[in-house]
Amino acid sequence: MSDLDRPVSVLAEEAEDRGANPSLNASLGDVVAVRLSRRDFARGALAVSVAGAAAVSALRARPALAASVDRLPVFDFVELAVVDDETHHVAEGYDADVLIRWGDGVLPDAPAFAPATQGPEAQAKQFGYNNDFIGFVPLDDVGDRGLLVVNHEYTNEELMFAGLPPRGRGMSATAGGDATFAAITERHVAIEMMAHGGAVIEIVRANGKWSVVPDSRYARRITAETEMEISGPARGHPLMRTAADPKGERVRGMLNNCAGGMTPWGTWLTCEENINYYFWNKAALEKHPQRSGLMRYGVPMEWYQWGRFHDRFDIGREPNEAHRFGWVVEIDPMDPASTPVKRTAMGRFKHEGAGNIVNGDGRFVVYQGDDERFDYLYRFVTDGKVDANDRAKNRDLLDHGVLSVARFDADGTGQWLPLVHGQSGLVPAMGFADQGDVLIHARLAADLLGATKMDRPEDVDVNAKTGKVYAMLTNNTKRKSDAVDAANPRGPNVFGHIVEITPDDGDHAAVGFRWEILVKCGDPKIAPLGAAFNPATTRDGWFAMPDNCVVDAEGRLWVATDGNSGARTGRADGLWSMETEGEGRGTSKCFFQVPRGAEMCGPCFTPDMETMFLAVQHPGEVAEGSGEATASFEKPATRWPDFQDGMPPRPSVIAVTRRGGGKIARL
Ligand code: FEO
Ligand code: CA
Ligand code: CA
Ligand code: CA
Repeated sequence: MSDLDRPVSVLAEEAEDRGANPSLNASLGDVVAVRLSRRDFARGALAVSVAGAAAVSALRARPALAASVDRLPVFDFVELAVVDDETHHVAEGYDADVLIRWGDGVLPDAPAFAPATQGPEAQAKQFGYNNDFIGFVPLDDVGDRGLLVVNHEYTNEELMFAGLPPRGRGMSATAGGDATFAAITERHVAIEMMAHGGAVIEIVRANGKWSVVPDSRYARRITAETEMEISGPARGHPLMRTAADPKGERVRGMLNNCAGGMTPWGTWLTCEENINYYFWNKAALEKHPQRSGLMRYGVPMEWYQWGRFHDRFDIGREPNEAHRFGWVVEIDPMDPASTPVKRTAMGRFKHEGAGNIVNGDGRFVVYQGDDERFDYLYRFVTDGKVDANDRAKNRDLLDHGVLSVARFDADGTGQWLPLVHGQSGLVPAMGFADQGDVLIHARLAADLLGATKMDRPEDVDVNAKTGKVYAMLTNNTKRKSDAVDAANPRGPNVFGHIVEITPDDGDHAAVGFRWEILVKCGDPKIAPLGAAFNPATTRDGWFAMPDNCVVDAEGRLWVATDGNSGARTGRADGLWSMETEGEGRGTSKCFFQVPRGAEMCGPCFTPDMETMFLAVQHPGEVAEGSGEATASFEKPATRWPDFQDGMPPRPSVIAVTRRGGGKIARL
């Protein structure tokens, strides 16, 4: 489909904002007015930007819940006092031990980490950079052996490589003349490509402590060069064909894998997020046959320098490569020789995660955020049912199903709008040639359907005990005060909020749902911010910028944050517990904090709830707005976790256990 045929004009966006949703649906001020009169005034002003007493009363005034739900266990731990310093902190009574660091061996013949002389060959066998999502696959019945799957989302050149000038944040190499990127060599790029992707490691527990099994037969590194299969409706699509892959069926690598999810059949869903950063050649955009499609995805961003050395990342030389990224990738960690599969039926956008549940009727349902300002929340429902007894029968389950996008209405209800070719204007006359085109350009299709533009949907997870779904909206500083809506009630939204979705009749495949705002983040004591937590939340308990999340086996929500460090909130990022039911609903407590400059990723529990794995991402990177000098390899904001001269800070996975044993945060 030619760009000229597309109905949605996105051509006016500035380079810095590329990828931000310029379409005109939703975000209407009048939606707020409707919601104010119909719902919030009746039930308390939780969903609008009113601080203090009104919001608090809304939290209290919530209708009583079923007794079984009310009895979800509350969090039991002594809250951590917030700080922002060089190291990590965990609540009293817990140990937080580093399990594996960037550069530690993954494959049997990995060389020792030598940061000053790091090369791509070594990096390809070692643990990658910027660990994000973590999944656990048990290998025995007692829970002492398992596999950890870990995403390696992206790289921080200024912290990884000696001798580079500090990075000017927020600028691409060409837009701002960023000195770090101008100094990048082909060898740097080769290392970066090997530091991306993911890792599978085998771990064992002895005397309550976890360690990595050396020479495990499961050990695997996935990189930006790992051969992958393309499956589903966009497999073989003309827009997926390249010089290296004229059939459009195979692709090398996965990029910017942020959060994810584990399936009940034990596979790893790893989600490609900011794929626009890897593509190069803005000059070629003007004449590109898919110009508006690329622009709606922010391609090319010209951030990483890969396109300088690899034709496939140059949109002038390889016009379709960008279409082959931005997918959910399914990987079988039990078989290190298996080919990862990009599941195109689940849509192409900046996938944050893949929170999922087996629906009452057996179908598999995956909730997915598209992390961009004014982008959408999606849901994928398989056609087939999960086979709990025969793992192999689920192999192609994710290739057939319906992708939908959420519309949040002002009366507290909402609808899932299906992205199905031939329906609702998703037809050739409107620029959509076929279902493959709809999925490759899921954002454009969702624009047309009138989905609600959200404040950067990050992770989403499902509470299997209550059937409720939690979506993290991290922030949106570009939302104007006159462009708020019921589900995104603050403009600008500096600190983010959490939306709770309850599917109609407990059916995760239903068209309709009800929704509420659980909390509005930021310091509730500063009235103009319009933050709202349960008043039982302490000064350490509030947080801002929710990002990753997980619901544990007891049905309790944990929220990880990204963006707090420095002047924004005066506290480091970390992990907070969040009560969702009963009197304590909306109360959060600080459990863990990352070292300076880092963001908090993971989290993941072992099935026995005795271990929580956390990922510390980009430690030492000085936070935007901190007023400090930009960090570099030579001068990082911390040398966590090794604290040795010459050793840069290292993104690492941490195992948190309770001293003396027992479940995390339980009586
Ligand atoms: Fe990679 Fe949206 O966090
Ligand atoms: Ca994230
Ligand atoms: Ca984030
Ligand atoms: Ca993040």
